[in-house]
Amino acid sequence: KRIGLLFGGRSAEHEVSQMSAANVLRALDPDRYDIVLIGIGRDGRWLLCDSGNGGGRGVRSLEIPEGAPQVAPLPGGAGELLVMNGNAAPASIRLDAVVPVLHGPNGEDGTVQGFLQLAGVPYVGSGVLGSAAAMDKDVAKRLLRDRGLPVVPFLTLTPRTRVDYRSAADTLGTSNLFVKPANMGSSVGVSRAFSAEEFGRACDHAFRYDSKVLVESSVTGAREVECSVLENAAGEIKASPLGEILPADNHGFYSYDAKYIDADGAMMRIPAELPSKLTQRIQELAIATFQALGCEGLARVDFFVDPKNEENVFINEANTLPGFTAISMYPKLWEAGGLPQSELMEVLIGHAIA
Ligand code: DAL
Ligand code: MG
Repeated sequence: KRIGLLFGGRSAEHEVSQMSAANVLRALDPDRYDIVLIGIGRDGRWLLCDSGNGGGRGVRSLEIPEGAPQVAPLPGGAGELLVMNGNAAPASIRLDAVVPVLHGPNGEDGTVQGFLQLAGVPYVGSGVLGSAAAMDKDVAKRLLRDRGLPVVPFLTLTPRTRVDYRSAADTLGTSNLFVKPANMGSSVGVSRAFSAEEFGRACDHAFRYDSKVLVESSVTGAREVECSVLENAAGEIKASPLGEILPADNHGFYSYDAKYIDADGAMMRIPAELPSKLTQRIQELAIATFQALGCEGLARVDFFVDPKNEENVFINEANTLPGFTAISMYPKLWEAGGLPQSELMEVLIGHAIA
């Protein structure tokens, strides 16, 4: 089978995607798959990179080579990409499936999924609706709340409906607030605010990334617990063992730097140390979240657990194309569940082409 690996992209998570893609490439069996690497530049152009076959070992991050030919999905092309190489006549290549190893807007949000759908190329993961619904934290939380699933209280602001700190704190019943762009990942643009001054700065910062911003009440001292969800070709949905993020004190929360820059910034405990009844409840909530948002194939669902009362579990968000870097939780949780990454890729591709 010829598999296209799509990486990079126009989002602020471009570099995370380069790291995820290197790790996914290592997990794809070169004897089984003919791999085509397609890098999306920061300018949005799709570029055909060197073949990934047999490569990827020891590579931390995939690069897009200078002067790579441009490619585009061919609408109605029954799984074909058009290759444009300088003045040469355009050629086409057929792909059996694409693994979109893209994070954030213009990749994880349904846009690329719609493009691939028009081109008739099967792809790993959620379709247009599930991708878009999960990416937008405001829409996602409304859908979850509508199903009676537990989410922390939140407010949604636009540049025209900004509120001041006092009013946000009064509405949400706490002075400890999280401010996040609605459509973003890897904690890009996220800050905490404990005062009017911090709140103003946090909103300005978040509005740099999106025209819609979420203000959430922060659960004091919350434990961050994550669960990987996987759907196989037969449509069976399974939840992995749980993992807990143990952020280093200096970061305060699981920030971008804690995730990827500062290697000591966060530690994971797999499996998370939680009573078995609570573990089971969180796994059930992870699957319920996956279904409520219309996800397909895979998602990592993130939770907050109140340390003072473990009954208080909140769904933070679902990531339909979660990080796949060498240190990422999604593949690690499946490894802990007895599914090595190469087999995980088999299941994901199997679901895509089923
Ligand atoms: N948005 C990052 C890649 C994650 O969810 O892991
Ligand atoms: Mg996310």
